[in-house]
Amino acid sequence: MLKLISGSDLAKKRREEIKEEVVKLKAQGIIPGLAVILVGEDQASQVYVRNKENACKEVGFYSEVYRLPEATSQDELLALIDKLNHDDKIHGLLVQLPVPAHIDENAVIHAISPRKDVDGFLPENLGSLLIGEPAFEPCTPKGCLELIKESGIDISGKKAVVVGRSNIVGKPVAMMLLRENATVTICHSRTKNLKEELLQADIIVAAVGKANMITGDMVKDGAVVIDVGINRDENGKMCGDVDRASLEGRDCYLTPVPGGVGPMTITMLMKNTLESATR
Ligand code: GUN
Repeated sequence: MLKLISGSDLAKKRREEIKEEVVKLKAQGIIPGLAVILVGEDQASQVYVRNKENACKEVGFYSEVYRLPEATSQDELLALIDKLNHDDKIHGLLVQLPVPAHIDENAVIHAISPRKDVDGFLPENLGSLLIGEPAFEPCTPKGCLELIKESGIDISGKKAVVVGRSNIVGKPVAMMLLRENATVTICHSRTKNLKEELLQADIIVAAVGKANMITGDMVKDGAVVIDVGINRDENGKMCGDVDRASLEGRDCYLTPVPGGVGPMTITMLMKNTLESATR
């Protein structure tokens, strides 16, 4: 039978743990603080930012949200980042992506202090992950690892196949699986034999952004499948990169979309912010 790994349930559990840590920190006079900057009117970004704001409230963080007009100049944005880099109330700082076209996304990410980069997007943090030093780990990969562990599988020695090679998900999740002693293969758009690769996998992380592209015939029995995709199917319904219907009745683990990786990503952002405040 297909077993679903609920990200919603796991996120709830983790947030309870974070709440308890916040109570302890508050007793020492420290309130973890997260600042989120949103530039422009992107619909999805507005939802994500509201969810981050609500998550802060839920776990007891101090939060600041800056909703800036589309016409904000790059210099104005960089000045705000600089101010927040030096604000002791703020332990984590992120600019919701994408930024409007007239702003250089790279310049914005690089302006954030590595000590407050709770998204884990900066080369300093990704480099530390690569060489095994403590770092802010990017939130979605960190959530994926927690979900894999929740299935009960022992990662060490297992064959893991990551589909997708983005800097935000594919590459870091591959590094984290390697750190856990998996044998890791990264597949991408130029991979010639995706199905063959996937059929060997004990663990699959799908982070491509193509609706229902991974089907049951590509997954071996017993596999743990983590679906990072957030897509719309031909009827406009939200779906992942994995075709869940084709896995029904199979002896596998799967994270649902919605309710899988999504809720874990924001929870890991809270965890990174807590860690920053603890430092
Ligand atoms: N846009 C989509 N996902 C993310 C994320 O995790 N962090 C930021 N800053 N922007 C995003």
